[in-house]
Amino acid sequence: MKYTGNLVLFGFMGTGKSAVARRLGAFLDRPVIEMDELIEEREGMTISRIFAERGEDYFRERERELVRELASGQGKIVATGGGVVLDPANIRDLSREGLAVCLTARPEVILNRVAGESHRPLLERADRLETIERMLKSRKSCYEKIPHRIDTSGLSVEEVADRVLGLLGNGE
Ligand code: S3P
Repeated sequence: MKYTGNLVLFGFMGTGKSAVARRLGAFLDRPVIEMDELIEEREGMTISRIFAERGEDYFRERERELVRELASGQGKIVATGGGVVLDPANIRDLSREGLAVCLTARPEVILNRVAGESHRPLLERADRLETIERMLKSRKSCYEKIPHRIDTSGLSVEEVADRVLGLLGNGE
């Protein structure tokens, strides 16, 4: 089987979307689109600066615009930003031409993975674990809209990529 649609990875920050997307892109020889990187490139500033100078609503508008662009076309691997699910239209549009997979992880695992990083404005707080738990809870129903979910907590990037390929059938 040759899978021709898009492959879209959703999930909270630190669930492995970018690393798994890169791995899948290399394995399947497909272009990888990292939504946050593309927004940074287009806006000419980092996500942190966009949040600080333009605000979250502005960022969500840019995110929505990009989803509309990415929804069509085939054969690419998309790593979304963790908050893209906040607008149900984003899930709908990105799922239209492709396989949508939501990566999940336990809060402590997420905390570990984002430790030492400072490019996520929503986690720039002293009470990071509580923030992660609170956000996961408030976004639970959003992530649950995505039919396929993979808990990445105890898995390597390669193992997660293999499971995504398994969802495609026989991994091409
Ligand atoms: C966000 C997740 C981030 C980035 C922005 C907001 C969120 O992407 O889009 O900081 O609301 O969960 P990653 O999930 O790639 O870190």
